[in-house]
Amino acid sequence: MKLVSHSAEETKRLGAALAACLQPGDVVVLNGDLGAGKTQFVQGVAEALGVTGEVTSPTFNILLTYDCASGVLNHFDLYRLESAEDLDDIGYWEVLEGGGVSFIEWGDKFPSEMPDDYLEVAITSGTDGVRSIKAQPHSTRAQELCACWGQVAEERA
Ligand SMILES: Nc1ncnc2c1ncn2[C@@H]1O[C@H](COP(=O)(O)OP(=O)(O)OP(=O)(O)O)[C@@H](O)[C@H]1O
Ligand SMILES: [Mg+2]
Repeated sequence: MKLVSHSAEETKRLGAALAACLQPGDVVVLNGDLGAGKTQFVQGVAEALGVTGEVTSPTFNILLTYDCASGVLNHFDLYRLESAEDLDDIGYWEVLEGGGVSFIEWGDKFPSEMPDDYLEVAITSGTDGVRSIKAQPHSTRAQELCACWGQVAEERA
């Protein structure tokens, strides 16, 4: 599935549309260059899930976790992680399997460490704030999630 965003706000709204479809345990992997809009997207998700307070980039923390109405939002950024072994130190697998919803920026740095079941979202920058957003499901549940997201985004467009 392909979507287009023309502004940071629109990317946040697309995140909010996806949030409406999330179920406990869902994992979304966000790929795209520096500044593509991955964190903006998660900020839209967080707002829609009722996270209060600021959602910042987890570039230095690797993982930031927020409480929200539906449980827990886990926000990973693997950009600065040097090796896959370091994932153990942050309890990566336990967190993913802990029943919250999880977003992983820069997942494509560690392809072997992606779970069996996830929705991949790739953001590509164009000119003048345009971003193309491509969603690729990697499981039956992710197909469902992707279809729901497309429907909600269309309804709200
Ligand atoms: N259509 C758009 N969608 C998202 N962000 C946009 C868009 N147009 C412009 N921007 C700007 O691009 C920047 C995106 O920053 P953001 O931190 O979300 O990127 P990122 O992909 O998380 O980068 P990093 O890999 O460094 O974590 C913001 O400054 C935002 O205002
Ligand atoms: Mg980011």
